[in-house]
Amino acid sequence: MSGHGEPVPMIARRGAALSGVAEVPGDKSISHRALILGALSIGRTEITGLLEGQDVLDTAKAMRAFGATVTRLGPGHWTVDGVGVGGFAEPGDIIDCGNSGTGVRLIMGAMATSPVTATFTGDASLRKRPMGRVTDPLALFGTRAVGRAGGRLPMTLVGAAEPVPVCYTTPVPSAQVKSAVLLAGLNAPGQTVVIEKEATRDHTERMLRGFGADLTVEETPEGRVITLQGQPDLTGQSVAVPRDPSSAAFPVCAALIVPGSEILVPGVSQNPTRNGLFTTLVEMGADITFENPREEGGEPVADLRVRHSRLHGVEVPPERAASMIDEYPVLAVVAATATGATMMRGVKELRVKESDRIDAMARGLEACGLRIEEDQDTLIVHGQDRIPGGATCATHIDHRIAMSFLVLGLVSDLPVTVDDGSPIATSFPAFEDLMRGLGADIGPVTR
Ligand code: S3P
Repeated sequence: MSGHGEPVPMIARRGAALSGVAEVPGDKSISHRALILGALSIGRTEITGLLEGQDVLDTAKAMRAFGATVTRLGPGHWTVDGVGVGGFAEPGDIIDCGNSGTGVRLIMGAMATSPVTATFTGDASLRKRPMGRVTDPLALFGTRAVGRAGGRLPMTLVGAAEPVPVCYTTPVPSAQVKSAVLLAGLNAPGQTVVIEKEATRDHTERMLRGFGADLTVEETPEGRVITLQGQPDLTGQSVAVPRDPSSAAFPVCAALIVPGSEILVPGVSQNPTRNGLFTTLVEMGADITFENPREEGGEPVADLRVRHSRLHGVEVPPERAASMIDEYPVLAVVAATATGATMMRGVKELRVKESDRIDAMARGLEACGLRIEEDQDTLIVHGQDRIPGGATCATHIDHRIAMSFLVLGLVSDLPVTVDDGSPIATSFPAFEDLMRGLGADIGPVTR
């Protein structure tokens, strides 16, 4: 598991143009939700295309601990026999969510209104992340939580035996917080309402409806008002998980910046709450065509044809942040190669991800010879014709920081090393193989 084993230094060198087809794995957000909603349903849920990254495997294990039967039939093909809303059993041991903020926060929500007690922990990265943003609204249902100072893991939650429904306006744009409240609302009587001022990824809403919940979404001047009728009978479903746009981001950005490249990335989700990176790249002058648009697994998808492009810096508007929150690290790498400055504003949420991603990117890019400006809520990258590289970048147990600096190494004068590539397995276990298959020179340092 990432953060628990020996670090695995990795290195990327400049080399040939990238070409071929990049089959990126299933969407991480949807994979977590499919397992959790399957566990909260009556009957069997059959999942295809499940991401078998460590984050999702940890959620599968947790669902077993709460009483669901979770079975792997083959690669990406899983079944979940659920226990129904309110049917969670008390886990016999601590729930270790590894590196996954989504896993722990959604599972906390899912158990919060059942009369069970559970203790959660995670790796060194997850134990630094704030859980109060989830346990504060869960307290409104009657859930009690005791953790370390600052609302950090390990943390024990005592589920509300007699939950009351809540109306909650999320103070930060976070799909994890929204989803935790909605999942808790499932076992509360009456209507639970979540209001979000800015739209965040809407997979929980889409899937709750798909599993039979009565859920409405209204766009109002105050924001998106999501109303869920409590205590529905959720029924097991077939879920085809689309490919993850956040993983697609790495080969897409690599092909854009490595001269002569052309790749095809099929079946990538184009959900408007997730596609801010692609909008931004096109604004920067990226040659991306969105071929064969269609619907898969309830999500809009397209095949992305990506060609090396001359890019220029842009100002990314703060209101786009939620739709590309996980993609800023790799955008910062693309920005390093673009003409002029790329200004990323309204991005303070990056400071509470798997690492402080503003700091991690700023320090690593500076070490590779780039000029960076930052403040609490902003990252500005000044692009250059030549990137010296030659540094070892700290990844802070953060998969996306590791993958981003490896992409940078593909266009740097000297190779770029990351101190630990092992966290990549949390979201994109096949990253190295996939990138090498396209022609990228990426591998372990000892090679
Ligand atoms: C996720 C929501 C985002 C994102 C994370 C996945 C989800 O976090 O960064 O990788 O699946 O709900 P926040 O909700 O904290 O913004």
